[in-house]
Amino acid sequence: MPNILLIGNGAREHAIAEAIARSGQAPSLLSWMKARNPGIASLSRKIQIGSYTDLAAITGFARENKIDFAVIGPEDPLNNGVVDALAQIGVPAVGPNKSLARLETSKSFTRNLVNQYRIPGNPRYRVFPSLDGVKDFLNGLDAVVLKPDGLTGGKGVLVQGDHFATKDEALALCAQILKDSASVIVEEKFDGEEFSLQCLCDGKTVVGTPLVQDHKRRFDGDCGPNTGGMGSYSLPDHSMPFLRPSDIEEGLEITRRVAAALWEETGSPYKGVMYGGFIATKNGARLLEYNARFGDPEAMNILPLLKTDFVEVCKHIIDGTLDQLNIEFEKKATVCKYIVPKGYGLPADHSDTASSKARIEVGDTGKARLYYSSVDQKEDGLYLSSSRAVGIVGIADTLEAARRIAEEGVKAVKGPIAYREDIGTLALIQKRIDHMKKIRMP
Ligand code: GLY
Repeated sequence: MPNILLIGNGAREHAIAEAIARSGQAPSLLSWMKARNPGIASLSRKIQIGSYTDLAAITGFARENKIDFAVIGPEDPLNNGVVDALAQIGVPAVGPNKSLARLETSKSFTRNLVNQYRIPGNPRYRVFPSLDGVKDFLNGLDAVVLKPDGLTGGKGVLVQGDHFATKDEALALCAQILKDSASVIVEEKFDGEEFSLQCLCDGKTVVGTPLVQDHKRRFDGDCGPNTGGMGSYSLPDHSMPFLRPSDIEEGLEITRRVAAALWEETGSPYKGVMYGGFIATKNGARLLEYNARFGDPEAMNILPLLKTDFVEVCKHIIDGTLDQLNIEFEKKATVCKYIVPKGYGLPADHSDTASSKARIEVGDTGKARLYYSSVDQKEDGLYLSSSRAVGIVGIADTLEAARRIAEEGVKAVKGPIAYREDIGTLALIQKRIDHMKKIRMP
C-alpha cells in the first residue's frame, strides 16, 4: 500500500489522481496543491495547500507522511527543483530533476541539445541574447516563429501570419521579448499539422502513448488568441488521420535520442514524461518543443484509457525497468472540452472578463467524465477563476460518439462560461486532413 504524493492542482492532476486511485495496489494518495481542487481532494487521504516554491514545506510533508514516491504534475515545481529536494530526503519521483526539466524550461537548451547530438527535427534557428544579428537572420528565413527562452504557460510563442505579419514587426517583438527574457529564439516556421506525443521515460526506455491533438486557439475555427489549450481528441487507433506511420516513428525516434542525449549531457536518467509537441510537415515530423510533464488537456485523453496499473507504471519509471512492462491503452476515441470563463484568454479590458469569478452550477454530466481545474469551492458553491475551469471528457468507440458524450456533459455546466463546440467534429478533422494533403502535393 504505497503512500504517493501528487503535486499539482489542475485538471491534468485530477486525471493523474484518478489513475492512481484506480490502482489495484490500494495506494494512499496525499496531495500538495496550490489551491484546493475538489476532485483531487475527494480522491486523497490527505491534502495540503501550499506554494510550489516552498521546498522545505513540501519535503517536510513528504517525510512526515512517509511518502514512497511522488508524481509531479505541472512544470513550475519541476523548474523550482522539487524533484532534487525530494531526492535529497530519499523520495524518488516521476518527473525530471531541475537540470533535466530544462527540456521544457529552456527552449534554447533543447534546441542546442538536439543540434549538438545531431538529432533530426530542429528547424533552422538561432538564440539571440541581444538584438545583434537578429535582423539579418530574420531576413534569411521565409516565415518565422519567436520564442522567449523560459516558461510561458504555452502562450508566449509568436507565429508570423498568426500574431504578426512582417519582419519589421518581428524585429520589434524580439526587442520586446528581450526586455523580460534573457534571450529570444528565432526559428523557421513549419507548415503542417501539430500532434502531441506524450512518452513515458525511465532514462533509457521510451514508451509512446496514444497521440492527441490539442486546440490552442480560444475560438471555434482556430480563431482568436492562443490559450493553454481549449480541448483535445484522440482516436481508437491511437494515431491521427493526417499522419503517416513514418511521422509517428520519427517522433518516437527523436524522443529516444533526446532521452539518451539528456543522460549523456547531465549524467542523470530522465524519469517522467517527455511530451513532444511535433508537427507533421511535407518532409516528415519536426520538433516544435518538449514539455517535461503530461499535457493539459492531453492527460485527460490518455490516462482514462490506460489499462495497465498506473502505480505499476510509476514504479517501473522510477526503477528504470519500463522495458519489462507491457503498457496498454483501450482502443477508444476521446474528446476533451475545456469549460472556461467567457473572458478567458481575452484582453483585460474585454467586457466578458467581468464574468470571471462568477458562480457556476455543475449538474449531472451523464456519461462524460469531469475533471476540475481552476475553480474555487466556497461554502455556497463553485466559483470560476480567470483560468480554465473544468475539463469534460467523452470516451466511446467512435470519435463522433465521444464528441456527443462530451457535448452532453458540457451542457450540464451552467454559468457565464464558454467552450469550443468544434473540437472533435469530423468537419474540423477533415480540414486537417485536407491541409496535409495539400502541403504533401508534389
Ligand atoms: N497542451 C499544452 C500543454 O500542456 O502545454
